[in-house]
Amino acid sequence: MSPPDARAIPAFVLGGTGYVAGELLRLIAGHPRFRFAGIASDSRPGTAIDAAFPHLGPAYRGGVFTSVDSLLDDLSACESAALFCAAPHGAAAALVARALLARTRALHIVDLSADHRFRTAAAYEAVYGAQAAGDEQLARFTCAVPEHVAVVPDTHIAHPGCFATAMLLALVPLLTHGVIDSDVYVSGVTGSTGSGRTPVAGTHHPDRHGDYYAYKALAHRHAPEVRAVAAGLTGVDCRLHFVPHSGPFARGIEITLQARLRQPMSGADVSALYAEFYRTSPFVGVSAREPHIKEVAGSNYARLCATTADGSIAVQSVIDNLTKGAAGGAVQWMNRLFALPDETGLTAPAAGWT
Ligand SMILES: NC(=O)c1ccc[n+]([C@@H]2O[C@H](COP(=O)([O-])OP(=O)(O)OC[C@H]3O[C@@H](n4cnc5c(N)ncnc54)[C@H](OP(=O)(O)O)[C@@H]3O)[C@@H](O)[C@H]2O)c1
Repeated sequence: MSPPDARAIPAFVLGGTGYVAGELLRLIAGHPRFRFAGIASDSRPGTAIDAAFPHLGPAYRGGVFTSVDSLLDDLSACESAALFCAAPHGAAAALVARALLARTRALHIVDLSADHRFRTAAAYEAVYGAQAAGDEQLARFTCAVPEHVAVVPDTHIAHPGCFATAMLLALVPLLTHGVIDSDVYVSGVTGSTGSGRTPVAGTHHPDRHGDYYAYKALAHRHAPEVRAVAAGLTGVDCRLHFVPHSGPFARGIEITLQARLRQPMSGADVSALYAEFYRTSPFVGVSAREPHIKEVAGSNYARLCATTADGSIAVQSVIDNLTKGAAGGAVQWMNRLFALPDETGLTAPAAGWT
């Protein structure tokens, strides 16, 4: 008699040949309970997975991308399944709507796009200029990082995104404890994988390499997303002033958050507040000095560091945009939805030298 398959939960991926989809496949390959069950590509169905992701060859040799129709048929035939959606915003909502019709009895969805992050279609339209999901579909999703939700929600999950994860980890404890004013200033830098696979002017390697520049200053779509999620969790509607930057590296995010303190606090006081807030969170660490991206790149870990002086606070937060800020955070959520420990399949430390 063959032993029962521990990797019993079928895991499906929408979003084909994209960077986040590739990172999801990498994590699923090393996950002890999820079993790769299919990945759909709009542009390359029938082609080899390792042609798009050569680094995944050892884990996916012989595997091919399927069509969306074929993936949804396979999904529908499962008793239970994990579905990750890593399609672009605007396209994800329609794909998820089709998946929601699957006959799968226990289906859990984590959408990594922006399409299910807001509570209402009107709020989404105000930022993105067009509706994606209707209010009814949005009500079936919760948007947060796992660290900020104590009870597993009875909904699907909208992943807040990469810059948002770094910001929310730093911001939510401060708002929860009422220690900062509601004007919050954030400067952040992301590696080039944050812009996705398709090269466009301004995000292409020759432009980014050896350079460092701000973009969409005070006008980035992640600011209203973070503000809405933070307000929903803490009841504080802060004014978030966000200036993102492009960094000359492939993966990783660092943000520095600054605000005025409402009461005198030392850096050690704030570090203690963070340490207590994230006491049961295996992936969030508090550093005594400003953390580097290389301490977390390629891993699901995040590091925070707080300093105070003259009534103001500065907090650094570093994550890997593709892992904690996307695929890793999504797997962490999926672990929860299937009643597995958060850490399952995610404890590999950072690569150190990327
Ligand atoms: N990159 C990050 O750091 C990051 C972090 C957090 C969240 N996200 C979000 O995760 C999603 C994927 O990001 P990414 O960086 O992986 O983007 P990407 O590299 O541009 O990949 C997106 C993939 O989606 C597929 N696609 C394109 N148009 C589609 C359509 N109309 N319908 C279905 N699939 C379509 C394409 O693959 P096929 O042609 O093979 O289908 C494409 O390669 C986005 O919503 C993004 O906002 C990204």
